Amino acid sequence: MGFYCLLKALGLKAGDEIIMPAYTCLVVPAAAVRLGVVPVYVDIEPDYFGLDVNRLASAITPRTRAIMIQHTYGWPAPGVDQIREIARQSNLPIVEDCCHALGTRYRGTHVGNFGAGGFFSSQWSKPFTTGLGGMLVMNDAALYERVRKVRDEEAGKLSPMMAAQLAMQGIVFETLVYPRTMTAAQRAYRWLGKKSLIAGSTSQREYVDMTGDYLFAMSEVQAAAGLYELTRIRIAIEHRRRLGLWYAEKLRAAGWDSPIWPAESDVTLVRFPVRVANKAEVLRLAGKELVEMGDWFVRPLHSHLAAQEQFGYRTGMCPNADRAADEIVNLPTHPRVSDHQARRVVDFLERVGHRPTHSN
Ligand SMILES: Cc1ncc(COP(=O)(O)O)c(C=O)c1O
Repeated sequence: MGFYCLLKALGLKAGDEIIMPAYTCLVVPAAAVRLGVVPVYVDIEPDYFGLDVNRLASAITPRTRAIMIQHTYGWPAPGVDQIREIARQSNLPIVEDCCHALGTRYRGTHVGNFGAGGFFSSQWSKPFTTGLGGMLVMNDAALYERVRKVRDEEAGKLSPMMAAQLAMQGIVFETLVYPRTMTAAQRAYRWLGKKSLIAGSTSQREYVDMTGDYLFAMSEVQAAAGLYELTRIRIAIEHRRRLGLWYAEKLRAAGWDSPIWPAESDVTLVRFPVRVANKAEVLRLAGKELVEMGDWFVRPLHSHLAAQEQFGYRTGMCPNADRAADEIVNLPTHPRVSDHQARRVVDFLERVGHRPTHSN
């Protein structure tokens, strides 16, 4: 929704094109499509899963109006300096998807500051949570006023029912969701969301009816939850940084293909991605053995509710993104993961995961 507000405030309209990496959440291109803007997918580079800068220039057409970069899993978008240079030469604004990357800095600058604006998610699985929701950041006062205008004109109030549901879900999340219960909780969440029995991240209707209600203001309970989360955000970021480095070291020592830590960066990973040749089996056994193991992204345009073809993506368009979706499982870095549990996850992966035979 922040992305939608930003695109609208930047003046993008029907028929314009926006370039974005083909390895993202389906709600991202869907926000553009809602404005009639056409997403143009560029393949990713295989180490950090960001838009491949070598493919960027050839994707720019006379109708391109913006470039979206994504700090996937929390890695700073690769080639950001070159991307900024290409954007400057082509006079195109950059928009950053920072949903995975709260806490990540490149050369001391926090993500979200490399272009016109950046959006963050505070949905359950993200670095800090208000249940559902997010933030939008920008440095330009005039753009900020235009974003506010879109929000004031279009954002509805959450119904008391929905606000109460979110508050209840917050209590369940705080008290019942731990690494051992995470897989079951996520399955239940996706299933109940599909049936519209809880306030899920995205409703099926949102993909079908592109003109229906869309923007909602945050409820008081969500805001209070977010303020509380902010009091422990430094500890959470430190925990994620430490676990990320620990996973990288352990996996590399065990012969897994883990990317070199990006230079001049403070990396805060929302999840630690690893390639396996037997993703379905790893996920199935993780569920059975109560090991927390994530499946993002299940497709280049990730969704359990709608098909990526509806948003212009076909398998084969971006082979690196297809392969990442087929191979990547991800390990938890959130503050509820103790050192013991992190070790258990790595031991599990060592035991059941098969290393892909190709090299990147
Ligand atoms: C890269 C990325 N962008 C955007 C989003 C959407 O966030 P939200 O669920 O808050 O709309 C997600 C959600 O998983 C994501 O992974």
